[in-house]
Amino acid sequence: MRSQLDPEKLPKHLAIIMDGNGRWAAEKGKNRLFGHQNGVNSVRTIVEESARLGIPHLTLYAFSTENWQRPKEEISTLMQLLVQSLRNEFEKLLENKIKLQTVGNTALLPKSVQNELQSVVDKTAHNTHMTLTLALSYGAKDELVAAAQQLAQLVKNNIISPGDIDSSTLNNHLYTRNLPDVDLLIRTSGEHRISNFLLWQIAYAELYFTNVFWPDFREADLHQALLTYQQRERRFGKTSAQINA
Ligand code: IPE
Ligand code: IPE
Ligand code: MG
Repeated sequence: MRSQLDPEKLPKHLAIIMDGNGRWAAEKGKNRLFGHQNGVNSVRTIVEESARLGIPHLTLYAFSTENWQRPKEEISTLMQLLVQSLRNEFEKLLENKIKLQTVGNTALLPKSVQNELQSVVDKTAHNTHMTLTLALSYGAKDELVAAAQQLAQLVKNNIISPGDIDSSTLNNHLYTRNLPDVDLLIRTSGEHRISNFLLWQIAYAELYFTNVFWPDFREADLHQALLTYQQRERRFGKTSAQINA
């Protein structure tokens, strides 16, 4: 499988909606928290494999603005797992030259989580092999609203005029301003929806859905998704003949 992947045709930006922890656990007669604990193993595997393959930007949907509506106990387990993982994986991030950053309204996260995140973000800021972006307390609609507000303020202060706003101006006011558009979006667990993830950034992404629950998603599943991606023809509005010319 590995050898079939074309290293020249890897996505520059891979984004993943890591879904199905709860159902994975339920299938085993366990509670949802057990599912989240096991989901961490998939995160580690996929981060390391993406870095090994040479994918420059990986973005993982870890907690949505809507997920704040979940039971308090589940939210607090997710936050604890995040802090624990940051501590456990920090050395590996350094070793693999991975830069960690976050997107989302992280001010809403518990202070202890914010501190842990900040510390890892600071200590990995110089890394250049791969950018690992965690979407935390993230919602694409919130992100776009915030960008609109910032641009309106600039117009109001006569710094720009409405006509100056183009797609790159808007892009520069998103959390993801330092990232290229998403090339491949993977969602696990058989759900076929976007759930308020990177709406703007996936405008021309290839979408890949798999029934595999996130805690079962490993190297072979990633390779399968990448292989499928490499077999697709991305036309960006043009004809096939134009693309192949
Ligand atoms: C994804 O798994 C993890 C988060 C959303 C934080 P879920 O917790 O959504 O698992 P399911 O979809 O209920 O199975
Ligand atoms: C999307 O999964 C959010 C994350 C993976 C973090 P959800 O499980 O929250 O999505 P819905 O509610 O099924 O759309
Ligand atoms: Mg879910």
